[in-house]
Amino acid sequence: ITVYVPQDSAAVSVGANEVAAALHREAGEPIRLVRNGSRGMLWLEPLVEVETERGRIGYGPVTPGRVPELLEAGMLHGAEHELRQGVVDELPWMRDQQRLCFSRVGITDPVSASDYEAHGGLRGLRAALAKTPAEVVEEVTSSGLRGRGGAGFPAGIKWNTVLEADGPAKFVCCNADEGDSGTFADRMLMEGDPFCLIEGMTIAAHAVGATEGYIYVRSEYPDAVRTLRRAIDAAYAAGWLGTGVLGSDQEFDLFVRVGAGAYICGEETSMLESLEGKRGMVRSKPPIPAITGLFGKPTAVNNVLTLASVPAILADGGQAYAELGVERSRGTQVFQLAGNVARGGVFESAFGITIDQLVNGYGGGTRSGRPVRAVQIGGPLGSYVPPEQFDLPMDYEALAAAQAMLGHGGITVFDDTVDMAAMARFAFEFCAEESCGKCTPCRVGAVRGVEVVDRIVGDQDRDGNLAVLNDLCELMTDGSLCAMGGLTPNPVRSALAHFPEDFTKEAK
Ligand code: NAI
Ligand code: SF4
Repeated sequence: ITVYVPQDSAAVSVGANEVAAALHREAGEPIRLVRNGSRGMLWLEPLVEVETERGRIGYGPVTPGRVPELLEAGMLHGAEHELRQGVVDELPWMRDQQRLCFSRVGITDPVSASDYEAHGGLRGLRAALAKTPAEVVEEVTSSGLRGRGGAGFPAGIKWNTVLEADGPAKFVCCNADEGDSGTFADRMLMEGDPFCLIEGMTIAAHAVGATEGYIYVRSEYPDAVRTLRRAIDAAYAAGWLGTGVLGSDQEFDLFVRVGAGAYICGEETSMLESLEGKRGMVRSKPPIPAITGLFGKPTAVNNVLTLASVPAILADGGQAYAELGVERSRGTQVFQLAGNVARGGVFESAFGITIDQLVNGYGGGTRSGRPVRAVQIGGPLGSYVPPEQFDLPMDYEALAAAQAMLGHGGITVFDDTVDMAAMARFAFEFCAEESCGKCTPCRVGAVRGVEVVDRIVGDQDRDGNLAVLNDLCELMTDGSLCAMGGLTPNPVRSALAHFPEDFTKEAK
């Protein structure tokens, strides 16, 4: 009997290791226990699955204390119990997704190379190695894939710039410094299907002519680091990495580097500085990293999800990928529901799904049961969106037209007890804390921003201070060197525009 208990850190944080130990101890019959990734239905974690003739039946959320009772009821054979959720693939949350990046997450053993291949892994890399670098770039360009880190820059154009830049030394760097609040898809992919990222990076290396790659992981993700390192060792042992990738003449060495806890190291040039062993300070652009990147060499810097999208694109063709989505947002996005939400987790779907479908539909509204008052999309630098705009489709341009941004696809939900003036103040506080200090609009502006919000809320020269706030936001947007200072006005302005009533003394 095969039993699955996730080793994803979200599942572990609510007791998955203890549940696995209890199952080992109490099973009473031989079981094969696989520590899989999480299916992404975080409200059901720890979600224990048992392999049956009907498919994998899930039970959750399981606590170690309930294991004996579940075993007694016949869980190992898929029997009824109040925690039985049914066939996991048939649950609406799973059934309605279009999982490409996450197609194997929660299904395979994350560090088994043979499991990965048995579930369709390496098809993309094999197809890529049979093509010239320019043909691989063309395939990615035709897919319409855009940078999933948040900026949405076309991946094929970026790769083409690196391909055409002077070699021979070039690098591929994966940005896994997932710092946005309410986002965790990079982590879940690295913990649940690290081979998919390794395959995507190897394809990228072939496409741009690189022989070395780095995955820059934030220090807050020790489990992801461990899993990645084990998977990289397994990939070397299986001949997918090193000299002669899968018997070809491609050479590719891959290394993991761990950050030290600075949000700004998710900004690509700051990440490159950190990879070079320096303090994570932002570099001026141009030159762009595609031309002058790591150690001054042409470098493809891509987010985890961008790279993890590539194997499916090469396996099934750019055209098939481009058929999903809307307008200029092609393919799928891994949305993440977090904050005060009844059902939080990851939901991969074609672009175009609405905020309402995600938040009130799949997410089930707030966890507190109170009305949803706002969501913040795209991390701490993203805009707040009120329920009146929940029919907006999740795509890059539609959100931008509504002065919001998709970012890395994270949605944080707030109920009607939220104080939006406090959230605006927090945006400035966060920027002051995390600013690298290189440019004045951000370094000084963020500190002044906190003071101005305090004066507005305290009803001191309200009109004058609102004008100062407006000027300050304009200056930070136009004058900051990078997105940290440049986007901080987003949450501030949207909070003020949609919830002006919170910015008064009476509201406090
Ligand atoms: P950007 O628009 O400056 O650049 C986007 C990417 O395109 C960069 O990699 C840049 O080097 C590349 N690029 C631009 N022109 C190019 C060309 N001609 N050829 C090749 N490559 C080219 O945006 P930036 O500053 O890199 O990212 C800002 C975004 O980051 C924000 O929109 C935000 O959503 C997101 N973000 C994500 C976070 C996360 O945790 N994932 C955290 C904070 C912000
Ligand atoms: Fe540094 Fe802020 Fe300027 Fe970015 S905007 S370079 S984080 S000071």
